[in-house]
Amino acid sequence: MRLLVCGGAGFIGSNFVRQRLARGDDEIVVLDKLTYAGRRENLQDVADDPRFRFVHGAIEDAAAVAAAIEGAEAVVNFAAETHVDRSIAAPDAFVQTHALGTYVLLEAARERRIRYLQVSTDEVYGSIAHGSFTESSPLEPSSPYSATKAGADLLVASYQRTYGLEAVICRGSNNYGPYQHPEKLIPLMILNALHGDPLPVYGDGANVRNWLFVEDFAAAVAFVLEHGGAGDTYNVGGPDECDNLTVVRRIIELTGADPSLIEFVTDRPGHDRRYSLSSDKIAALGWRAGTRFEEGLERTVAWYRDNAWWWEPVRSGAYRDYYERQYGRRLNDT
Ligand code: NAD
Ligand code: TYD
Repeated sequence: MRLLVCGGAGFIGSNFVRQRLARGDDEIVVLDKLTYAGRRENLQDVADDPRFRFVHGAIEDAAAVAAAIEGAEAVVNFAAETHVDRSIAAPDAFVQTHALGTYVLLEAARERRIRYLQVSTDEVYGSIAHGSFTESSPLEPSSPYSATKAGADLLVASYQRTYGLEAVICRGSNNYGPYQHPEKLIPLMILNALHGDPLPVYGDGANVRNWLFVEDFAAAVAFVLEHGGAGDTYNVGGPDECDNLTVVRRIIELTGADPSLIEFVTDRPGHDRRYSLSSDKIAALGWRAGTRFEEGLERTVAWYRDNAWWWEPVRSGAYRDYYERQYGRRLNDT
């Protein structure tokens, strides 16, 4: 297939592109704004592949989209601002990319009558105390991140209903694995543990996430692209749930760090207590998440240990200012 992959220089997008090029005979154009989270390094092992082309640009820029979409048979949209804490501090980029950017992409796909896949998140459903969300659960997002992602999903659904766009939505649970920016829980804790830095656990650490190894989610997105019905939404949950404190304690064991590095810090406002997705609908089509959390976490710790070339420039760059703003007061207050 000839694919336009938006946000393909980020964590999940780059894993998707690498996997598609390794497994099939796609031609892929990546359109990416290269925000703090998007990096050419994430795609360096496919950079010389003749089936791959990179376009630097934003999805809300119609001219950049028109240049990148030429010849594409489908659009896969990973492009997003993705960190809940940053959305609480500064929601503007979230509104811009998720609302306006998704609209511009939808218009381009509609004009060319090509298939459109929106990558979304379990966070659009909000928090669930017991049981699991299905695709028909109401959308009750808590943060500016999840609210703008929910808005984008609704816009996608409207284009399918109103204009007959062949659109599908794929909602994943929390991803982890190689190439994830260290602002997120698992890479942050791994790198802090390796450096002997404090491990800042929000609130009581009992919030639960449904962990999904990134290679499994990338494969699920490819699966939905091929098998998903137009107008349908598919949840993709990981095989295991785990509370944050247990995740951090396991990372301490795997890195050999000192358990006294754990610091309980001021909670995130509007912090969702638990996410859990039912994957029954995609499972009925034949999909299974393969990687158990225990195995995926070991592989992830090993990857960060072995790939300092990847995270050293991130950790020493603008991330330091972000870290100070996000954690400086929290850690000093404890
Ligand atoms: P990421 O932050 O690592 O990557 C996002 C990418 O989008 C970056 O390359 C960035 O440069 C690019 N981007 C941002 N704004 C853009 C714009 N306006 N135009 C073009 N490119 C832009 O994010 P990720 O974790 O890889 O998430 C990818 C997608 O998957 C997002 O839509 C996210 O909501 C969704 N998702 C993420 C998770 C998770 O746990 N990380 C779980 C479920 C769903
Ligand atoms: P995160 O990786 O930001 O993903 P999301 O908020 O999208 O689920 O956070 C995962 C969980 O870890 C969430 O409950 C918040 C918590 N957390 C901490 O306790 N400390 C941290 O420093 C971070 C980044 C997250």
